[in-house]
Amino acid sequence: MTKPVILTGDRPTGKLHIGHYVGSLKNRVLLQEQGQHQLYVFLADQQALTDHAKDPQTIVESIGNVALDYLAAGLDPAKSTIFIQSQIPELAELSMYYMNLVSLARLERNPTVKTEIAQKGFGESIPTGFLVYPIAQAADITAFKANFVPVGNDQKPMIEQTREIVRSFNHTYQTDVLVEPEGIYPENESAGRLPGLDGNAKMSKSLGNGIYLADDMDTLQKKVMSMYTDSNHIRVEDPGQIEGNMVFYYLDVFGRPEDVADIQAMKDHYQQGGLGDVKTKRYLLEILERELGPIRERRLEFAQDMGQVYEMLKKGSQVAQAVAAETLDQVKEAMGIRYF
Ligand code: TRP
Repeated sequence: MTKPVILTGDRPTGKLHIGHYVGSLKNRVLLQEQGQHQLYVFLADQQALTDHAKDPQTIVESIGNVALDYLAAGLDPAKSTIFIQSQIPELAELSMYYMNLVSLARLERNPTVKTEIAQKGFGESIPTGFLVYPIAQAADITAFKANFVPVGNDQKPMIEQTREIVRSFNHTYQTDVLVEPEGIYPENESAGRLPGLDGNAKMSKSLGNGIYLADDMDTLQKKVMSMYTDSNHIRVEDPGQIEGNMVFYYLDVFGRPEDVADIQAMKDHYQQGGLGDVKTKRYLLEILERELGPIRERRLEFAQDMGQVYEMLKKGSQVAQAVAAETLDQVKEAMGIRYF
C-alpha cells in the first residue's frame, strides 16, 4: 500500500522565525514522525523570484538557511523528501499546460494574490510570473499527486485554485491522472499566526519583531526582555493585563500541557498585581529555551558542513524530479501530445 502524500513548501526569503515553526514546521515534523504519510517539503525559490526578480541573491542565500532550519527542527532526509523547486524543470512544463485552463479574470480574483499585489505596490506593472504563481503552485502540488497540503489560512485560495485546475484538467482530457488535494489548516489561530514581539499582528523580517530559529541565546534573551506586555503596568504592584500581552500570548503557545497550571497561576497573580514583567519574561525565556535550545544546537552542527546540506538537497531534488517526470508523462499522454 502506498502512503497518502503530503506536500508543503516555503518561499525562501530569509531565515525561519518561530511563528513559522509553531504554525507549520513543527507540525510537519510531527507528521513525519507519525510515519503515515509520504512527506515532500520543498523550497519554493521560483515562487520567491516572482517578487524578487532583481534580488536573486536573497533567495539563493536563504536556501541554505531554510534548509538548516528544516534539519534543525527535525525534518529528516531519510524519512522525507526535501528539495528545491527550481531544480525540477517538470514543474514549469506542467504550469504551461495548466495556464491554458485558467482565465486571466480567475487569476485576478484570487484574494491572496490581490492582497499581495496591493501590499507590494506593483501598480500597473504586475509581473506576469507573479500573477500566474497560483498556477505554478498547482503544478507543485499535482506533480507529486499530493493528497494533503498543510498550509496557513492565507493559502486557502491557492488550494482552491489547484482543485479547480485538477477538475478542469481531468474533465477536459477525460482522465483521472491528477489528484485533487485537500488543504490542512491550523485549527488554532493563535499558533497559526504568532504576533511579533512588539504586539504587531505579524512577525516579519521587515518589521524587525521576530525571533529566529537561528538566534543565539543572548539574542533570544534580549528579544524576550524587550517584548511588549502592558503599557499600563508600570509598578510591580499594579494589576496587569493578559490580553494583548505578548509574554502571556507566547506562554499559551509554547507552554506544554504540564505547564498549564503554572501559567494560569502566573496569569492570576499578574492580574491581581504584584508580579513584575521581569519575572514573567524570565519564565517565558525558560519555556522558549527548552524548545529552541536543542534546535539551535542542531542547527550549529549542521552548519559546520554546508556541503553535506547541499548534497542532501541535491539527492532530494533527484528523487522529486523522478516523481514529477512520471506525472508529466501521464499528463502529456492524457493530452495526446506524446508524439514519439
Ligand atoms: N505559497 C506558499 C507560501 O507562500 C509556498 C508554496 C509554493 C507552497 N508552492 C507550494 C505551499 C505548494 C504548499 C504547496 O508560503
